[in-house]
Amino acid sequence: MKEIAVFASGSGTNFQAIVDYFRNHKMIKVGTLFCNSPDAGAVRRAEKAGIPVVLFTKEDLYGSNKVLNILLEKRIDLIVLAGFMWLIPPKIVSRFRGRIVNIHPALLPKFGGKGMYGINVHNEVISNREKVSGITIHCIDEEYDRGEIVFQAICDVSEDDTPATLAEKVKDLEHRYYPVVIEKLLADDNHVQFS
Ligand code: GRF
Repeated sequence: MKEIAVFASGSGTNFQAIVDYFRNHKMIKVGTLFCNSPDAGAVRRAEKAGIPVVLFTKEDLYGSNKVLNILLEKRIDLIVLAGFMWLIPPKIVSRFRGRIVNIHPALLPKFGGKGMYGINVHNEVISNREKVSGITIHCIDEEYDRGEIVFQAICDVSEDDTPATLAEKVKDLEHRYYPVVIEKLLADDNHVQFS
């Protein structure tokens, strides 16, 4: 079995889609949810699904090796960021290089970087009068929203779209594609292909 650790800070709808997709999967298991907020919806979803939760503080992540050590102990094959709001520190990036993926609700390299999350992203897309938006699944490195792009899917932005309606379209793409891309990455004999 290959084991995924999901990091999430928020409501966890992507986490849920991943849990649902891999329930009863023969090769891949969602082993743990890592979360920085005990009140996050993702934590309730994990509890309901019987998935262990590791709650941690900023100090645990940045000032100690606590989170890194748990990841190593659990022999995690792929770290999946699904709405995780803090930057993954270099000590974890370097130990898991090529094995940490993130999903971003726009077509990177546009509309990425610090502060570009949630509705802010869709506000920018709409005010820039973009004709398309979508999702980007990418490997992470030491900076926000960089790293090699693994997969993108596109949706139209119509004249009457608002940030809220666009957010819904993008969420649909996320839920549809993130689990499948994760499966493909892990199926490639633990070698993450970025093409
Ligand atoms: C998603 O839109 C994802 O693109 C971004 O954070 C959001 C998480 O949403 N990285 P949810 O908590 O999975 O609903």
